[in-house]
Amino acid sequence: MIDLDDERALRSIDPSGMLDAVAGLSKDLSDGFATGLSAEDLPVLDGLSAVTFCGMGGSAVAGDVLRSVFRERLGVPVDVNRSPVLPGYCGTHTLVIVSSYSGNTAETLACFREALHRGCRLIAITSGGSLAIEADSAGVARVIVRGGGQPRAALGWLTAACLGALQAAGLLPDMSSDVAEAVAELQALAARLGPDVPARDNLAKELAHRLADRTPVIWGADGIGSVAAARWKAQFNENGKIVAFASSMSELDHNEVVGWERPNGESYAVIALRHGGEHSEIMPRFPLSLDIAKASGAHVEEFRAAGRSALAQLFSLIGLGDFASVYHAISRGVDPTPVVVIERLKAALAAGSSE
Ligand code: F6R
Repeated sequence: MIDLDDERALRSIDPSGMLDAVAGLSKDLSDGFATGLSAEDLPVLDGLSAVTFCGMGGSAVAGDVLRSVFRERLGVPVDVNRSPVLPGYCGTHTLVIVSSYSGNTAETLACFREALHRGCRLIAITSGGSLAIEADSAGVARVIVRGGGQPRAALGWLTAACLGALQAAGLLPDMSSDVAEAVAELQALAARLGPDVPARDNLAKELAHRLADRTPVIWGADGIGSVAAARWKAQFNENGKIVAFASSMSELDHNEVVGWERPNGESYAVIALRHGGEHSEIMPRFPLSLDIAKASGAHVEEFRAAGRSALAQLFSLIGLGDFASVYHAISRGVDPTPVVVIERLKAALAAGSSE
């Protein structure tokens, strides 16, 4: 086990600076929001019937944020499409937001091209690649985010650029106070969880130690809780190079909970992510279900979101998971940044499609 209070060791295992990227989430949110607000040539959104957010992996999470924070407030449905197939309902009255950090993800490019073909209203969010080039030549509004990092580390940029552009287009109300609150929560979080804060006072370092070799199973209430849970899962996958699972309450009480019935849960850690906006029917399910997981031998943890707005609460949970997953990787000597398996798969698939 690496000593997480040894800053030299941290830097040597994390040479590409994933810890710095995680600590920079607050700044990414404010920079991304300003960039989105100044987006030009945005489509006219009169008579809109749906919003479809297309993306994969780290670039799709911004769509989950949008959907979970706004689905009760927007007059039209918001769908997140993680597939190369554009849903059949997408047409001239649909806003299709296409998000690919690299701009080169096959599924996302396929949706972009199909949306163009169907005359959908389009916004492309990317740092470059084919998406930036094709959107430019088709006259599609582009929101260009800062490049040069990992897509999952650009969540602040991708999310806030989207929110800013949708506010500028008149679809969302003024989001500036929600974004400012999320930025402040993340700054406070980074001050408490940064590498210079010793493990005894640092919740994220402590959590990394407590998880040890257990497989994380993350629970969150339907809505922002389950979006945070899915983000934690993906961060443990990609930063830690471990298998992890996420599920949504109350759906998990109708299937997964039976899996915790028998006393064979010792190799798992169940982490419940709680927030202030949980439905009154969902809230009491957490202690009951956590007790069932605990009785099976699982290690159990529970964390509560900070902040007032849904956006701030969601990012406070995301920020904790980002730090914990990076410390968990480093504590086991794993460089959090590279995702060699994803790159290898993409290259193999691209080579296969050009044969
Ligand atoms: C890597 C990561 C991946 C990518 C995904 C799609 O850090 O998060 O999940 O996001 O492979 O690639 P992009 O985001 O470039 O469209």
